[in-house]
Amino acid sequence: MDFRQISAAERTTTMFPLQTYAFMPSPWTPADEEAYRKRMRFHETTFNLIAEEGGQTLAGVAALRMQQNVRGLVHDMAGVASVSTHPAARRRGLVRELMQRLLRQMREEGCAVSALYPFRPSFYAKFGFVGIPRHRTATFAPEGLSHLLRADLPGEVERLSMNEGFEAYDELTRHLVTRRHGFAVYDEVRSAEFRDDNYWVAVARSGGEVVGVVRYRVDQHGGDLVGSDLLYTGALGRALLLQFFARHVDQVARVSVRLSADEVPELWGLDFGVTVAGKVANPTDNAPMVRVLDMAALSGSQAGPGEVTLEIVDDEHIGGVWRLSATDGTLEVGKGSATPAATLTAAGFSALVYGVLDPVEVFTRGLGEVSPEAIPTLSAMFPREMPYLFADF
Ligand SMILES: CC(C)(COP(=O)(O)OP(=O)(O)OC[C@H]1O[C@@H](n2cnc3c(N)ncnc32)[C@H](O)[C@@H]1OP(=O)(O)O)[C@@H](O)C(=O)NCCC(=O)NCCS
Repeated sequence: MDFRQISAAERTTTMFPLQTYAFMPSPWTPADEEAYRKRMRFHETTFNLIAEEGGQTLAGVAALRMQQNVRGLVHDMAGVASVSTHPAARRRGLVRELMQRLLRQMREEGCAVSALYPFRPSFYAKFGFVGIPRHRTATFAPEGLSHLLRADLPGEVERLSMNEGFEAYDELTRHLVTRRHGFAVYDEVRSAEFRDDNYWVAVARSGGEVVGVVRYRVDQHGGDLVGSDLLYTGALGRALLLQFFARHVDQVARVSVRLSADEVPELWGLDFGVTVAGKVANPTDNAPMVRVLDMAALSGSQAGPGEVTLEIVDDEHIGGVWRLSATDGTLEVGKGSATPAATLTAAGFSALVYGVLDPVEVFTRGLGEVSPEAIPTLSAMFPREMPYLFADF
């Protein structure tokens, strides 16, 4: 068995048949293959790894070059995607080997964190990943926001094609990655593909600054306005976008929009009827998963006061004894020598850093042992803070 890094151009003859068989309706047509080949220019910077035997590609994995904010620091992130094995070669350990090689390589190239959307979370838990929230979808009638039609807000919303609005859309996402915990964006090569997406984009501006964007489609007259993630810098940006939705009264029956898990749409208005749904199911609708790949890179993250020595076990990337301390709101990470007050898996530690589980939940989920004294310290240093990944891959 050979394991080999391949270029974007080689993906069409090697990874395309595996991916298309695994994730798309099949058999595929020559037109599907040609469409894939054309898209490969947006994967020039993607890291691709395959397993092949006798000239036949049996499995492949890829890492998209992305950036993610984790507790205030923006890290290079490996966005794991295109994980697939030929049906005849499954359960032979090929993806296990490819994933190990991919994570090792991406860490060497400077990725401090990694994220993915699993087909089954327990599969990726073996590689140190832990779940973070999936987006919610709010669905409501535009009448519910009619109070906003009378509001004189200091700003305006422009409706553009994605092609026209791409710069504003991209600018806002790149601003949010510097501000929002968990938020992730692609590099410029990959994100350029979205410029040609067949969406409208509503761009909210105030004082010349972009303060909100949302991509959307209208499915039919009297039907649905289907929005992607509602992205904004603050309450004004959100209000401008909601006011724009309100203007679709009598045109569409419903508006739906994707939201982060900590969004509370029932507070958007009085007598406001809204359904907020979050569906999680294997293999198509899973919540994303994340992990830390580099401990030293976490120095400088936001953290509450405290000091603790902990051991991370069974992990090639972040295993070992570490001393973590924070006095002025900033985390310091170094090698530890004291007796560890907690023994965690990579997933357990990642859960604390990403703010999704507290130390007691890390224990109850089987992701580590935490001494009673370390529980309040770790809770204070890594307070709950829901990450919002945003990027879909
Ligand atoms: C999922 C898939 C990529 C696994 O590839 P594979 O090469 O068969 O995986 P491996 O043989 O390396 O298995 C690695 C480990 O996961 C386990 N595993 C494999 N498939 C699994 C499954 N469907 N559910 C749970 N565990 C599974 C293996 O038993 C092995 O466990 P071990 O390390 O304890 O021995 C492959 O079945 C596939 O292509 N499926 C369709 C596409 C897909 O779902 N891709 C994932 C997208 S996120």
